[in-house]
Amino acid sequence: MTETRVTARAPSNIALIKYMGKADPASNLPAHGSLSMTLDRLCSIAEIRVKNDGKSAVAISAAAPDINAARFGGTLSCPELSDSGRQKLLRHLERVRAFSEERFEAHGLKALKRASIESRCANTFPAGAGIASSASSFAAVTLAAVRAFAAEPDAFERAYAGSESFRADVSALSRQGSGSSCRSFDGPWVLWQNESASAVPGGLPEMSDLVLVVDAGHKKVSSSEAHLRVVESPLWRGRIDRASARLEQLRKALGDGDQHRVAWHSWMEAWEMHSLFHTCADPFTYWKPGTMEVLEWIAPFVRTARTHGEPGRSPAFETPPIVTMDAGPNVHVIVPSSEAADWKVRLGDRFPELTVLEDRQGKGAELL
Ligand code: PMV
Repeated sequence: MTETRVTARAPSNIALIKYMGKADPASNLPAHGSLSMTLDRLCSIAEIRVKNDGKSAVAISAAAPDINAARFGGTLSCPELSDSGRQKLLRHLERVRAFSEERFEAHGLKALKRASIESRCANTFPAGAGIASSASSFAAVTLAAVRAFAAEPDAFERAYAGSESFRADVSALSRQGSGSSCRSFDGPWVLWQNESASAVPGGLPEMSDLVLVVDAGHKKVSSSEAHLRVVESPLWRGRIDRASARLEQLRKALGDGDQHRVAWHSWMEAWEMHSLFHTCADPFTYWKPGTMEVLEWIAPFVRTARTHGEPGRSPAFETPPIVTMDAGPNVHVIVPSSEAADWKVRLGDRFPELTVLEDRQGKGAELL
């Protein structure tokens, strides 16, 4: 009996136009499109151990993948899975096996039959850093597992590198495990519409994400729960049209390399998503007092995005930061990498008590 190992790495991503609200909760089809920036070093590493044992068992190990994470600038930390998280991952590994049996042939690939797999996954960011790991971990596990089920690794790697339709299928597969994970396969700018996600052109310089960690505690309302609750907000009326129109505007601004407009649309979108949380039938908030402090302080910088170009209103800064928030209390400040060091000093001076995580734009999931 032989045992082989497949390792993959996938970064987290941060949405500028958010995925919030599902058209089909069972398969994570979104109510409307979303657009994100793929990160680089804030990532998950997944290792799949495959045994040709004539069985078809699926297991999850709490151990870390056997890899030196220093090359990705971090040490590995394994998130502890809840029972439901474990079940979700096991179901997903079964889904990947079914995908290999049902879809490989269409891409000229052969699936490995009757093999058992064990999955190990860890993050390069510490558990409780306030960074959601579901997107990066599902993307990494999907890529490693789907490759592990390929009977001919070289053919798989050729298809993955060369076939857009195969990559779209893999992204769609990952989406069924965790919605936003489908945006972690490409980069740096990724559009997710309907089934799968792929890269779109961006005219901005290389960008960095500075994450102000206001609170690293576990969130009380999961994003799955938030997806269900937002449709009960009166603000949900018209939301799909508004988000879709904003997505088009942001996509255009991004293509034009117009950071002012990208920053403005991103700011509006972040507030709108959180307003949905604040106004649904069973209202909740992810914000902490520190979140408001950061938002209040940073608003005038973002305002230059709106006043840019208006007669008589010269912006205080050349390029406004792109400010957004996930389903959490932390604030993402996305700026050109050439300005990241200055921004880090500015943020550190104003908020010395907060940790600032720094990452930059990346290219998406890869086999290691
Ligand atoms: O992929 P999920 O179900 O964890 O949803 C993620 C939703 C947000 O992070 C809040 C927004 C997004 O588009 O990433």
